Amino acid sequence: MIYITVIQSELRYFPAGRNAMRVQGLARWTMAYVAAAYVSFLLGQAVLLTGKTFPMAGLSSPWTLAAVHLFTIGWLTLLMLGALGQFLPVITASAPRGHGFYLAGLFLMAGGLLAMEIGFLTLERGTLWLPLGGSAVLLGVLLDLAALLPLLFHARPLPFAARFVAAALGGLLVTLAMGISLALGLTRPEIYAHATLGQLFTAGLVAHLAAGVGAWFTLTAMGVSYKLLAMFSLAPEDRGALGKAVLGLTAGGFGLALLGSLLPLLTGWRVPWLTWGGWAAAGLGGLFYLVDMVLLFRQRKRRNLELNSVFAGWALMAFGVSGVALLAASLDPGLVPAALYLYLLGWLSGLGLSQLYKIVPFLTWVERYGRQLGRGPVPRVQDLVDEGRARPWFVLYFVAVFLAAIFLTAGAGAGFLLGQAVALLASAMIGREIWRSRYGAPAVEHGERRVMVHG
Ligand code: HEM
Repeated sequence: MIYITVIQSELRYFPAGRNAMRVQGLARWTMAYVAAAYVSFLLGQAVLLTGKTFPMAGLSSPWTLAAVHLFTIGWLTLLMLGALGQFLPVITASAPRGHGFYLAGLFLMAGGLLAMEIGFLTLERGTLWLPLGGSAVLLGVLLDLAALLPLLFHARPLPFAARFVAAALGGLLVTLAMGISLALGLTRPEIYAHATLGQLFTAGLVAHLAAGVGAWFTLTAMGVSYKLLAMFSLAPEDRGALGKAVLGLTAGGFGLALLGSLLPLLTGWRVPWLTWGGWAAAGLGGLFYLVDMVLLFRQRKRRNLELNSVFAGWALMAFGVSGVALLAASLDPGLVPAALYLYLLGWLSGLGLSQLYKIVPFLTWVERYGRQLGRGPVPRVQDLVDEGRARPWFVLYFVAVFLAAIFLTAGAGAGFLLGQAVALLASAMIGREIWRSRYGAPAVEHGERRVMVHG
């Protein structure tokens, strides 16, 4: 019985109610985004294994920057934009639209990223690949926004989770604008006044980070996790005053940090307290978010958590640890790379992997069995996955990433490479499990594992 409740509660979020299972309720290109994102994720980790990136080379070395952008644009941005194509219609209770824009956006972003990668690796030759690639990525994002923003516009007043996403999308645009400005600073420095160029690679880089890793990634991950974790663990979605405080502090905090780093660049005024105040507010928002996530797990109706929710908990742990490391980094800047690594691969990638393990089978289930619902027995969403087979790979992934981060802190290159190699293996195996959930046969041989829901 619980399964019926869960399936209904999950499908409730699809726009057409009982007709939700109709395939036109699905964003057409989400899976293509997921596939492109996953390839970038594996490639980014493979580049870390070449030994040409940090800590063997500098933080701003071409290979490090190439790997960082495979993660930030190729993996996380494509994953988030692809997921939002399905997720925003769900949280705003409207039908997905702009499928053509979405596909063109994917091509532009993937092509742009490829050009950026060439640009990073040929920086010393002064080619224009980097700014041109960045501009193509920006164009691709604008096409996606042409499909997403009308959804947000028509859903005003915005639901709680959508508010995080709206603020995050603003952060994405600033990130890209700053990225292209930095790229021009590296390839065509003569277009900037001397003083501006100095500010660009100090305050401008901070703005790029605050807008990208802060506003875009963090706010999207918070909004999506609020919705998905409540939905999949059957917990209340209304997060009350604490939820509002999380939104206000994190979105407002990143906004202030961004302003504090953009002002010196645009006007020459230095207001360090604005930046520090912004980071402090965002940090407090992060702390409140963790507290609220613990409450959400405690308030859930589903006692036995599925694997995606269990490992979302591990990702949240990585969020907490990287937050403490970032705090410690204000005293010892040497901790920044390890904190950032844990933030990107432990928290954001860990959350992405764990939710993909539910979202892919769920969407596959809707596509395959949605029309049959009410007309006969159909498998459960969970029949498309084998949690026992996937669990050890998730454990291995998180343990390897934690160890690699510790080795990074100690500057131990060999240890970092070992941890990273294991993380890559585990990611590939998790990818295989996700692939199987979409293309493998469901485990429905056992009559008792079937469920029939009346439409
Ligand atoms: C979501 C999008 C993006 C995110 C989250 C992001 C994130 C980052 C991060 C974390 C760094 C620091 C890397 C390090 O120091 O090792 C960085 C540096 C950089 N990014 Fe991005 N980036 C994004 C998009 C772009 C785009 C579209 C461009 C345009 C070409 C770009 C150009 C650069 C450049 C040139 C640097 C190096 C600046 C320097 O030499 O100090 N980024 N980015």
